[in-house]
Formats: sequence, structure tokens, C-alpha cells
Amino acid sequence: SASSIIKQRSATWLRQTNDITLYVSKAAAKTQMEFEYDGPSMKTEVPGPRSKELTKQLGEIQNVGAINFFCNYEESRGNYLVDVDGNRMLDVYTQISSIPIGYNHPSLIKSAFVNRPALGIMPPENFPEKLAESLLSVAPSGMSRVQTMACGSCSNENAYKAMFIWYRNKERGHNIPSDEDVSSCMINQSPGCPDFSILSFMGGFHGRTMGCLATTHSKAIHKLDVPSFDWPIAPFPKLKYPLEEFTRENAQEEARCLEEVEDLIVQWRQKGRPVAGIVIEPIQAEGGDNHATPDFFKKLRNIAHKHGSAFHVDEVQTGGGATGKFWAHEHWGMDDPADIVSFSKKMLTGGFYHKDELQAYRIFNTWMGDPSKNLFLAEVLNVIRRENLLEEVTRSGKTLLQGLYQLQDQYPNLLSSARGQGTFCAIDIRDDATRNSILLKARDKGKTHYSHTDGLIGICPCTNTQPTHTDMDG
Ligand SMILES: Cc1ncc(COP(=O)(O)O)c(C=O)c1O
Repeated sequence: SASSIIKQRSATWLRQTNDITLYVSKAAAKTQMEFEYDGPSMKTEVPGPRSKELTKQLGEIQNVGAINFFCNYEESRGNYLVDVDGNRMLDVYTQISSIPIGYNHPSLIKSAFVNRPALGIMPPENFPEKLAESLLSVAPSGMSRVQTMACGSCSNENAYKAMFIWYRNKERGHNIPSDEDVSSCMINQSPGCPDFSILSFMGGFHGRTMGCLATTHSKAIHKLDVPSFDWPIAPFPKLKYPLEEFTRENAQEEARCLEEVEDLIVQWRQKGRPVAGIVIEPIQAEGGDNHATPDFFKKLRNIAHKHGSAFHVDEVQTGGGATGKFWAHEHWGMDDPADIVSFSKKMLTGGFYHKDELQAYRIFNTWMGDPSKNLFLAEVLNVIRRENLLEEVTRSGKTLLQGLYQLQDQYPNLLSSARGQGTFCAIDIRDDATRNSILLKARDKGKTHYSHTDGLIGICPCTNTQPTHTDMDG
């Protein structure tokens, strides 16, 4: 009868619920090591038949050009991603670098979140306490204020606005707009919409919204067909490796780039588009893992000070521990590293830290982040501290880089410029075709074929150097 089916169903559900509870509490006592799988296990080629079938199904509803395969997130554990065909792969992609402590970490499988508040208007009671436990407990040096946002682009976009508002108030000498400011801004004209600019670097990636995109210069495919601003773009140093062998050349290269930064700031001021802020990644990630020395960043910070521009360090990709320090800019050893530090990805919530004077009351949107993410982040930070994960990153990063050095010695015609900080490591492969072939072979051995730098290499439209037909369409 219907009622016995319902009873049967609820009994099964209860059993499942109990299983889950039991499983969570048991699992919580285990360390992440015990919880993880012990290696890759491949059952089909990738994508397998089930992935192909699902791609076809989804293709009838939306664009599937970027999909590599479908995943079984319930079965994925720690560093291992399981696909819908039962292939278990070492995940070196980590959802575009956004997973801080692996899949289904026991400490995170705890709560459900039902309500999503408009944080700027009606935050929950525990919001200040949770911010203190999570984001403020890892605030960069010199910063005690933080604004949460939803994603990386949204964080940078709002950080740019904060820099512009700060700069304009500095110019005015106060924060009260004139009647002309108010009327002209409504028709996108100055002085209400001033001709300020943000200086960014060639190869940089800061997101895909309009303001961010004007400072993104990693690949044409991101920018094509979208109007942009006339803002200055400086060269990012191209260091030669191994660093010890090219100290003089690299110092010259960094000095050249810094000189260009100052020239651009002066030129743009003369053009009537003063540089309100400088934005930079501590390691250019999506643009190909480009590093610079702490000396370069210290001098750049000083140039920003000298010219009255705000200094924005974009740690969306580098923040959260992958370099062996919580923030990559900590490697510079500065007490006053930045005016703004933006984050997202491994921090689980987006947002930006800022100096007190960059507080702008007009930075606002509906959700302003999501408080449930702060709870998760507090838990992630506990795990990072409890399990000394930053030390672990440094230790395993050394092993990883050592391995890359060995490989480039073994295959000097194929590989060069092994480099890295913590596990944020990279190596150059001779050409695109060789790279794609190596990555696909690695995937067939159970290593997902991505780099940590958004590198959906060769397949996904988001980073193909040479846009394919599908890329151009969409
Ligand atoms: C350095 C950096 N900034 C900003 C972004 C944009 O973040 P989102 O994709 O969350 O908008 C990214 C994304 O990869 C990034 O790497």
C-alpha cells in the first residue's frame, strides 16, 4: 500500500541519515590522511561513457564547450576527484585553485545553511564574531578592516571603486561632492565620473567584469569584443632561471619594469587620467606563473606611495596558503605591504582587506558575500593551524620543485625554467602541442590535466592561447 511504501521509504531515509551522521562523527575523529584514497584508479578513458552521455544531455540546455567530464563529488576525497565513470584522479586542478583543504574534509561536513541574508543591511547576530574568527584572524599586516564580496572579480571591482573614491576625496580635500559632481555623474561625464585610471601589468589577471577586465592582460580571449578603458599597462618582469645564474640580468629587468611604471604614471597624469591605484598579483598566475623578487614589490610599493596611488595586491589566486605563507605578499617581509588586499577562491568567500582610509560607505550590493562561507573558512583555518599545513606546503613544495628540477635536467629539450614558491610551482614546456600531449597523457594516468593557474590547458575556452572556433563563438 501507499502508506507502507512511505514507511519503507522513510525507514530507508532514516537509515541513510543515521549512516551519514555516524559517518561524519566517525570521520571527524580521523585525520585527513586516513580519510583520503591512497592513489589514482582509472576505469575508463576520460571522458568516459557516462560523462559523454551527460555532456550530450546538458548540451541540449546550455553551452558545454568547456566541460571536460562530470564528477561524483560525494565520492571525491581529499586530493582525489572521482568522475561519474568511477575514475579516481589526483586533482591538481582544485576547481580553478579554489579548494583549500580537499574534497569532503570531515571538519566541513557539518552544517546546513538555509537563509542567505543581505549582509549590508541585516547581518546575523554572530557576523562580527565570525568575521573575527575567520577573515580578521588572518588579516594582512597593517589591515584591520575587511569587506566581504561574492567572487574574485566582484572583490576587485569594488576594491577599484574604493580606490577611486579615496583618490577623489583626497583631491577634493573632503568627501562632499559638488552639485556639478552630482549632476555630471548621472550622464557619465566628469567631474562626477572623473578620468582616473588603474595601472596594471602585462600578463596580469584580475577578473572578467568590465573594470577588472581593463586590468586583465593574460589572454586575448578574455578581452575580445568588450569595450575597455584607456588605462596604463606596465611590463611585468620576465625573470631568467635558474635565478642564481642571472642575478644581474634579473635585477636589470626588474629595474626596467619599475622605470616604465614611473614613466606611465607621469604620462597618464599629463594626459589628465591620473593613476589612482596600482594593481598586481604577487605571482602572476593565470598569465603563466611569472614571479618577481621581494625587492621588485618593495620598490613598486614605494613608487605607489611617492605618486599618491593606492597599492592593491590581488591575492585571489595566491592567498590561502599555497605559497607556504598564508599570503604570498608575506614573502616580501614588509610591515606595510599594501593598501588593499583582495581574496576569494581558497578563502571560500570573496572580499578585500583595506586600510582605514579606504573605507567607502558607497561600496554595496545585495548579498555582500555569504556568512555561511565565513563559518566554513573559520573551520578551514582551524584545520590549517591544527595540522600545520603551511609547513606542510613548504615541505612538499620543496619536494615538488626538486622533482621539477630533476625532470628539466632529464629532458632539457622539453622542459625549462622550473620555479615556485611552496606548492605554487611551474615549469615551461617547449611548445603548446608538447604541453597538451603531456597533460593528456598525465590525465590518462590519473592526474587531472590542469595546472593550478586556471590552466584548463588546450581544451577549455577560458585559457586557450589560440582561440578555437568554439572560443570565438562564445
Ligand atoms: C588573481 C585573480 N584575480 C581575480 C580573479 C577572478 O576571480 P573570479 O573568477 O572569482 O571572478 C582570478 C580568477 O582566477 C584570479 O586568479
